[in-house]
This record gives sequence, structure tokens and C-alpha cells, in this order.
Amino acid sequence: MSEPTDVKWDELHRVATEAAGRAYAPYSKFTVGAAGLVDDGRVVSGCNVENASHGLGLCAECGLVSNLMSSGGGRLVAVSIVTGDKAPCAPCGRCRQLLLEHGGVDLAVDFGDGPITMDELLPHGFTPERLGTDTGS
Ligand code: THU
Repeated sequence: MSEPTDVKWDELHRVATEAAGRAYAPYSKFTVGAAGLVDDGRVVSGCNVENASHGLGLCAECGLVSNLMSSGGGRLVAVSIVTGDKAPCAPCGRCRQLLLEHGGVDLAVDFGDGPITMDELLPHGFTPERLGTDTGS
């Protein structure tokens, strides 16, 4: 798949790093920030938010998707996920599913040496189409 044009990766990386700076990760000490370009040009972001019940923490991508929907919805086109030291962070399994739902197989995800697609990150993924569901997006 071809890379989406007009993605300002530096800007996405900057917003993701800023979000990582607002993470609440007192248990793992592993701060994560995510920023996504939406198909209407908006940029949405999120950070990880942990809690005392360790397994119930929210990943940065959860915050990003919540921000996407609460600010008007749309489709994610490009996403940058970084750790506190600005290194690209591989999305966990659950978050790959989340990103696939809201960006589809062509969503570009920064992976350090350049973006890769959701199709590469989660091949043969479980999509709304497989359920026969029209999500309206
Ligand atoms: N984390 C994310 O925010 N996104 C990911 O895709 C990987 C993991 C967070 C969850 C937890 O707060 C911390 O990183 C350590 O696992």
C-alpha cells in the first residue's frame, strides 16, 4: 500500500511526545503518548493512564481513540506512538485491534525506520466487515 501523502510526521511525533509528558504511569514508569492524523486534518492524541489495579490501565491509544470519537469521529490516517524518551513504541495487541477499527488496513503507523501499515502490524485482522457490520465509518 502506498503511504498517505501530506502526513507531517515530525508534527505527529511532537504531539505524541507532548502527550507522553502528560501520562499517568506511576506503576510501570513507562510513559506513552500517541498522536493521530484524522482524515479531516484534525490531530488527536492520548497518553497512558494507569491505576492501582495494574491490569486495568489504559493505553495511550485508548485515549487517542476516545479523543477521536469525542472530538467528532472520522478515520485515522497516520499514527505516531512514542515512549517518554521519544522512541517509537510498538502498539500492544489490543491497541492494534483498536487502531484497525478506526483506521483500517491502510492506516500508517510510525515504526522508527518509517511508517508501516496496519495490515503489516495486524495481518488477517478481525474487522467489522468480517462481522458483516456496517459501522457507518
Ligand atoms: N502501553 C501503551 O500505552 N500503549 C501500548 O501500545 C503499549 C503499552 C502502556 C501500558 C502501560 O501503562 C505501560 O505502557 C507499560 O506497559
